[in-house]
Amino acid sequence: NHNHNHNHHFRHADSNASPPSSAVAKISHLKAVVLGDAPASEEDDVVLPSHDFSRQALVPSQQKYLEMYKASIENPAGFWSGIASSEFYWKQRWGDQVYSENLDVRRGNIKIEWFKGGITNVCYNCLDRNIDAGLADKIALYWESNEPGFDATLTYSQLLQRVCQLANYLKSVGVRKGDAVVVYLPMLMELPITMLACARIGAVHSVVFAGFSSESLAQRIVDCKPKVVITCNAVKRGPKTVFLKDIVDAALIDSANKGISVDVCLTYENQLALKREKTKWKEGRDIWWEDVVPKYPTSCDVEWVDAEDPLFLLYTSGSTGKPKGVLHTTGGYMVYTATTFKYAFDYKDSDVYWCTADCGWITGHSYVTYGPMLNGATVLLYEGAPSYPDPGRCWDIVDKYKVTIFYTAPTLVRSLMRDGDEYVTRYSRKSLRVLGSVGEPINPSAWRWFFNVVGGSRCPISDTWWQTETGGFMITPLPGAWPQKPGSATFPFFGVQPVIVDEKGVELDGECSGYLCVKSSWPGAFRTLYGDHERYETTYFKPFPGYYFTGDGCSRDKDGYHWLTGRVDDVINVSGHRIGTAEVESALVSHPQCAEAAVVGVEHQVKGQGIYAFVTPVEGISYSEELRKSLILTVRTQIGAFAAPDKIHWAPALPKTRSGKIMRRILRKIAARQLDELGDTSTLADPGVVDQLIKLADT
Ligand code: WT7
Repeated sequence: NHNHNHNHHFRHADSNASPPSSAVAKISHLKAVVLGDAPASEEDDVVLPSHDFSRQALVPSQQKYLEMYKASIENPAGFWSGIASSEFYWKQRWGDQVYSENLDVRRGNIKIEWFKGGITNVCYNCLDRNIDAGLADKIALYWESNEPGFDATLTYSQLLQRVCQLANYLKSVGVRKGDAVVVYLPMLMELPITMLACARIGAVHSVVFAGFSSESLAQRIVDCKPKVVITCNAVKRGPKTVFLKDIVDAALIDSANKGISVDVCLTYENQLALKREKTKWKEGRDIWWEDVVPKYPTSCDVEWVDAEDPLFLLYTSGSTGKPKGVLHTTGGYMVYTATTFKYAFDYKDSDVYWCTADCGWITGHSYVTYGPMLNGATVLLYEGAPSYPDPGRCWDIVDKYKVTIFYTAPTLVRSLMRDGDEYVTRYSRKSLRVLGSVGEPINPSAWRWFFNVVGGSRCPISDTWWQTETGGFMITPLPGAWPQKPGSATFPFFGVQPVIVDEKGVELDGECSGYLCVKSSWPGAFRTLYGDHERYETTYFKPFPGYYFTGDGCSRDKDGYHWLTGRVDDVINVSGHRIGTAEVESALVSHPQCAEAAVVGVEHQVKGQGIYAFVTPVEGISYSEELRKSLILTVRTQIGAFAAPDKIHWAPALPKTRSGKIMRRILRKIAARQLDELGDTSTLADPGVVDQLIKLADT
C-alpha cells in the first residue's frame, strides 16, 4: 500500500489496504488478565466490573475489546470510515483516501490528514443532526450557578436557536470562515454556545481559560489576531467576584501596543455577578451580548467546511516560555471525540453527564462540548468552585440532576478525600454509574476512595490518559470490558498504538518502562502548532524519529497494563494543568529584583505537583517576606493564579556546570529533600553552591 509517485513519503491508506504486519504483531502484549490470590503489589490489585455492568456495556468483555482493537489497528481506514459514515452527517464524502500521514521526519514534513475532501460541519452534527433524529426537546445543557439555587436549562432546539443567533451576529460584524475568535468566558452556557456558533460559521475559536492573566490573554490575542473577543463582565468563584472584563480591557491595551487591535469586544452581562452599570466600558468597541445577539434570527445556514479545515486553536504550555497554539481540524476531531466519549463512558441516551473541567482546557473542548453533544447527551455545566459553599457541593449537584457519569481530576478527588467521607455519604449518589479521572496519574489510594466512597463500589472508573495534542482519549479503560487496576490507565483506545521506547528510541516489549510514544496517526491528532510547523516537528517528532513523542514516561506491566509516570520534559502538572518551568522562570526574572530563577516540580499532597522556585535576587537585595510575596504576585499577574509558586527557595547562586548549564537534577533532589540522592556534584563549576542551598532550604 505504498504509493511511489511524487509524494512517496506519505503512507496512503484506503479501506481495501492490507494491514501493515508489524501492527498485528504488536498487540500480542494485550493478553487477558489471570486473576490470582491476594494482590502482592499494585500490579496485582485488580477490580472487576460487575456482571450487571458488563452485561449492559457497549463493549462487554476483553474478547470483544481485543476483536475491535485488532480490527482498528489492522485496518484503520476501514474502522474509522465505517464509524464516520454511519454516525455523522457529511455533505459530501471524503476522497479515495480515508487518511494519509507521514510521522517520520526522516521522510519529509510531518503531515496528518483524515477524511480529506469530506465536507461537513461539527455544529450541524452536534445540533441539527440530533434534532432531526428526535432530540429537539431533550435537555442539552443543565446549568448550575456558583450560588446554590440558581440554575437554567436548554433543550437541543433551544440551544440551536441560541447558537444561530450568535452565529448570525458574528457574521454581521464580519467574522468569516477561517477567522479567529478569542473567547474568555467562565462556565456559563454562553461558552459552549460560543464554541458551537464559531464552528457553525467556520470561524476558529481560541478559548482562553478565564483564570489566565491579562498578559497571557494578550499574548494569545497577538498570536492569533482575532476579529472579535467574547467575554463577560464578571463571574463568582466561590465567595469571590472576578472582574473578567477588566482583565480583557488590560489585555486589549497590551495587544494594541503590540500592533494588534481588536474592533469588537462582545460582553455578556452576568447579572448574578455584576450589573452592567458597574462595568468599565469602551464605547465603539464594547457591545453588550444581551443588547444585540437576541435580535438576530434563530436560524443560520451552516458553513460547510473541509474535514481538514481548522476547528479551533488551544494554547498549551511547552518547555519554552512561549505557549503553543495546538491546532485541531474538523472531521477527524469530530469522529474521534464522539467515539471515545461513547466507549470510554459506555454512553447511554438516558445518561446525565457531568465533567468538572472548564471549557478553557482541552477536556472542556472534547468532553464538555464536542464529544457529548455529538452523542446527543445531556450535559451539566457548573459555574462555580467545587467545594463551595462546602465540600459536599459536588454530590449535592449529582443528586439534584441525577448525574450518571461524573468525570473529574485526581486533584479534586484528593482534596475532597481530605475533607472526610461525611460530606459524600450525606448524599445518595445512587444515580452514578460511571466515574472518570483525567489530568495526571491517579494514585491508588485516591482511586480506591473515589471507587468505594463516591461510587459506592458500584461504578467503574475510566482513568483517561490523553493530552491537548491528542484531541481525545488515548489510553483508557472501557468500563465494562476489562478488570481495572487502581492507578493504571489500562489499554489503548481503538486505533491507538502506544509504544514505549528507550532513550535511543528502540521499542521495548513486554514488561518495560521508558518514554511513551505513539506509532501511526489517529483521527483526533493535532495537525500543527499554529504558525510554527517547525516547532511541531521538533518538539513532537524529532526526539524519536518515526513516532509521535508524548513527553510522558510510562511503564507496562506483565499483564500489558499501562502506568503513566508523569512528564519527562520541563513541564509541570499542577492540579492537572500544564505549566512550563520556563514560563514561570521568565515571569520571575522579569521582576526587577530577581537576577536568576530556576523552577522545578515537586510532589504535592493535593495538587499532584507543586511549583518550586529557586530565586537569586539581584546584587544588594536581601531575602525578605515582602520580596517573596512580590515575586509570587508577578507570576500571578503574568500567567495566572494557578501558576503561582508554592515555594520560593532563596539561592545565593544556582548549581551550574562549567559551561553554565543549570543542573536541574540537583535542584529537583533539593526541592524533594532527597539530600542523600544528590548524585555526582563534582562536575559543578562551584560545588559549594549545593551546601549553601541546603542551608537555606527552610528559610
Ligand atoms: C498531560 C497532558 C488531556 C487531559 C487534560 C490535561 C497528564 C493527563 C492523565 C492520566 C496520567 C495524565 C500527562 C499528559 N495526564 N491525563 N489519566 N494519567 N497522566 O491535558 O494539559 O494537555 O496535559 O497530562 O502528563 O502528558 P494537558
